[in-house]
This record gives sequence, C-alpha cells and structure tokens, in this order.
Amino acid sequence: MAASLRRPLVAGNWKMNGLKASAAELGSIMTGSAGLSGKTDLMVCPPATLISAFAGQARGSGIAIGGQDCHAEAAGAFTGDISAEMLKDAGASAVIVGHSERRTLHQETDAEVQAKAQAAWRAGLMAIVCIGETRAEREAGKTLDVLGRQLDGSLPNGITAANLVVAYEPVWAIGTGLTPTTLQIEEAHVALRRALAESLGEAGAGAPILYGGSVKPGNAAEILKVREVGGALVGGASLKAQDFLAIVRAAD
Ligand code: PGA
Repeated sequence: MAASLRRPLVAGNWKMNGLKASAAELGSIMTGSAGLSGKTDLMVCPPATLISAFAGQARGSGIAIGGQDCHAEAAGAFTGDISAEMLKDAGASAVIVGHSERRTLHQETDAEVQAKAQAAWRAGLMAIVCIGETRAEREAGKTLDVLGRQLDGSLPNGITAANLVVAYEPVWAIGTGLTPTTLQIEEAHVALRRALAESLGEAGAGAPILYGGSVKPGNAAEILKVREVGGALVGGASLKAQDFLAIVRAAD
C-alpha cells in the first residue's frame, strides 16, 4: 500500500465563524504550535473576510491559511462570489471545494466542484476536495460507489501530488458527534487511495486523504492512525485553539 508521500495535515474549517477579534485564537494556535514536533502541517481556513489579516499574522509561523470555497471564474459579474485568484491575492495557499454544506445548501454538483478545483489550481492554490456519503447512502450499502462517483466527477485533469488533498467527510458525521468506526474509515480511505492511484498514477498515490466529521481531541489519535488517513479536516473543534492543538498533537 502506497503511503502518503507527504506530511500529515490538520486543517481547521471555521465555516461561518470568526470576527476580527478571532486573531487572538489564531495567536494561541501559533503560540501552541511552536512547541510541537513540527512533523504535521497546520492550516486554518477562516471566513474570507479574515484571510488577509490571518495570512499576515501567520506569516513565518508555518501555519497555512486557506479559503472555504471559490468561484470557478477568475473575475466577472458574479455578485457576492470570490475567485481563487482573490483568495490567493489575500494570502491563502489552499481552498476547500465541494464541502457537503456547499453541495447541499448551495446545490453544488460534482461538475461545479471540479471546475472550482480547476480554478484553485489555475490560481496556484492547493485544492482540498471534499466527498462523502449520506446516512441513507451508507445504509443502502452504496458508500464506496458514491465515493468513487464523486471522486471521478470532482477531480479535474492536471492535478499533481502537490496541489491536491482529498477529504473524506461522511455527511452524517459532520457536526453531529457521530463518527464511522475505524474499520469503516479504513475501508473508505483504502478504496479512495486505490482509485486515486489508478486514475492519477504517482499524483494519486501521494495526495493526502484527510478524514473529516466530528474529529475531536478525544477521538483524533484513534482516527489518525487508521491506514491511509493522512490528516484531518476539523470543523467545530478547530474553533478553540486548545482543542485544535490537541488534535494536531495526536497527528504529530
Ligand atoms: P465537524 O465538521 O468537525 O464540526 O464535524 C467537519 C467539516 O465540516 O469539515
């Protein structure tokens, strides 16, 4: 089994949370991470309004700043949208695309997610492409089919090992406190690794596959040692520096 060629990544998805005063939380993350082994990559994805300030604040700390979504076009008449180029310009080095909240609340399709991942790449950002099954799909035994289809439909051509991260986030585990068993996580991650290596060769063998969905300090160590889990995408628990750092420590 090809191990990830890259370091573990723990990324915090702040979703629609955070004001200017949240600079203090980022400051605590920076202070706390300075005492870690440095084997794990850290990323914070704040709301777009904070990217520029956070990128300035985090410069030199080794903590990367990412966006949570981008438009597929570089510029134009798209009121309220933000392009990958704008995120890059503000100081982001990555962007999450295809998060289940975008797929359900904004009806984003695999084709749109693919175009967004392509846009991220065009702008020089790493794309964190999210996929995951619903509760009904899991209960119907369709998890691996759904993941395969989403992966096929959401990844653009031309991805390299340096610009792609896949995040497996079961929809039913996001924000619910529920998590799959470690066996279920392993089954999904091993299948995704196989599919990635088959379709993308070396790039697919090296791209980290993060697990996301109710990762907390109490379950992080167990989840992060599952085969082919290359890190975590953390929502709720990333909002508190102490919890986020405890998860990073588990990956370290
Ligand atoms: P959660 O969110 O950790 O709050 O479940 C994960 C995510 O949505 O990325």
